[in-house]
Amino acid sequence: MTQDSATPGFEHDILPLFRPVDIEHMAPFGVQLDQYTYMSVAANAERVYGSIAAKRMPPGGGNAWPDEKVRLLRSWIDGGLLP
Ligand code: HEM
Repeated sequence: MTQDSATPGFEHDILPLFRPVDIEHMAPFGVQLDQYTYMSVAANAERVYGSIAAKRMPPGGGNAWPDEKVRLLRSWIDGGLLP
């Protein structure tokens, strides 16, 4: 089934936003950025979104996401957390 290209999906649009270092550093905290089963739980997605939108994550000068990436994550959540 072809997905509406206007609605972001996890594998195609969201997973590539995370660097290997993001996934590796957050896994021990139970924040499984590369796992759809984790990320598709709305409360988890909102927590991740909140940390990025507030620029707490990823840490380090210059690592904050540009608005375009933040908006893409927001549209994925608002679009129903599609795989
Ligand atoms: C896009 C990438 C990342 C996301 C979405 C993310 C997400 C989160 C979330 C949701 C928390 C829980 C506390 C909060 O809401 O702020 C957290 C905490 C934490 N993260 Fe990340 N993280 C990312 C990258 C990283 C990286 C690259 C590192 C290490 C180099 C890191 C280290 C930490 C540490 C040490 C904590 C616990 C202390 C704290 O709350 O500040 N994170 N992260």
